[in-house]
Amino acid sequence: MNDRKSLQAEEKRAAAEAALKLVEDGMALGLGTGSTAAYAIRGLGRMVGQGLKVRAVPTSRQTEELAREEGIPLTDLEACPRLDLTIDGADEADPRCRLIKGGGGALLREKIVASASRRMVAIVDSSKLVDPLGEFPLPVEVVQFAWPVLLPRLALLGCAPVLRRQGDKPFLTDEGNYIIDCPFKAIDDPRALAAQISPIPGVVEHGLFIDLCQEVILARSNSIERFMAD
Ligand code: 5RP
Repeated sequence: MNDRKSLQAEEKRAAAEAALKLVEDGMALGLGTGSTAAYAIRGLGRMVGQGLKVRAVPTSRQTEELAREEGIPLTDLEACPRLDLTIDGADEADPRCRLIKGGGGALLREKIVASASRRMVAIVDSSKLVDPLGEFPLPVEVVQFAWPVLLPRLALLGCAPVLRRQGDKPFLTDEGNYIIDCPFKAIDDPRALAAQISPIPGVVEHGLFIDLCQEVILARSNSIERFMAD
């Protein structure tokens, strides 16, 4: 691993460890997806091994598998429709705790789990803090049938949308949908953009998280910075 990569990995781990301090015995948790969330899941596994009693809802099959390996008791939204705390990563975060998520393709379940949580905390390394959002292409999850219609519809909003691929096939989400990545470069009004995307027929969900995240925990070199939502 080169120096930049190992510093980034260390920041991800530090942000995850800081968030794990918010976990209390008896909590129902949401477990995010991605490499930063994986640090939190491994740390939580360690705490469970030391006697912590929690149950958790995973936001993807990948996270479910890791949580099982770590011995974390799993539940679902039927048994546990209200969660105490969700810890998840993000592709971008702004200082007002607005996020872009979905780089890993799990944005739909991630948003459902975040919306079922009393508190959502995003854990990020220092490269993820931006203002405005939008350098990272905004992922939009769409039903398979609709994608050819949605490329030109989303382009009208000011981006050059691309159907996400895995090898020579479209990328498939855990829910069996496709993802269209929308490089806006800068999103000056995330709420207005979200309101334009959501009602388009065929759009299942977009990766803008607004009013869902209460706190961003960011690790920078040896320090932790915290951003709170208004
Ligand atoms: C998955 C996500 C992830 O949280 C996001 O992609 C960040 O991943 P990483 O921690 O690996 O950078 O939204 O859908």
